[in-house]
Amino acid sequence: MPAEKTLNDLFFDTLKDIYFAEKQVLKALPKMARAAQSEEGKAGFLQHREETQGQIERLEQVFELLGKPARGKTCEAIQGIIAEGEEIMEDYKGTAALDAGLISSAQAVEHYEIARYGTLKAWAKQLGLKDAIPLLDANLQEEIATDQKLTALGEALANAKGTQKKAS
Ligand SMILES: [Fe+2]
Ligand SMILES: [Fe+2]
Repeated sequence: MPAEKTLNDLFFDTLKDIYFAEKQVLKALPKMARAAQSEEGKAGFLQHREETQGQIERLEQVFELLGKPARGKTCEAIQGIIAEGEEIMEDYKGTAALDAGLISSAQAVEHYEIARYGTLKAWAKQLGLKDAIPLLDANLQEEIATDQKLTALGEALANAKGTQKKAS
């Protein structure tokens, strides 16, 4: 019989999952910034790229608290979400709907991250990993704020419809 796995193992595996995911997001955001037609969209994606860099550093601090090497574990969920975003970039290139599509992809990423950080924070509490809680919460709050900014951006875009220029 294999040794029984614990919540500690699950916490560590999930930490590796989000660490992998953040690194993928770090690579995807500049592509999304380049693709975005609106200046606000471009600036927003680049700003979140900066934040993502900081989030990766916080995760590295959590690995350090556990006394484990910072290593990612392939996260098929984020790969799927990013692949869908790339499909939108390709299929809607040069159309008036492109930015709305980019925002929707970015929100799918944020919601995945919010789910992961919410869970990790709850488990850190249960496991008594006191020093990990503020680090995970800082990431969680940034993802929530980003999601809200994206909602506002999507609404502004919808309101500006009609005056929107078509990219050549
Ligand atoms: Fe993130
Ligand atoms: Fe994010």
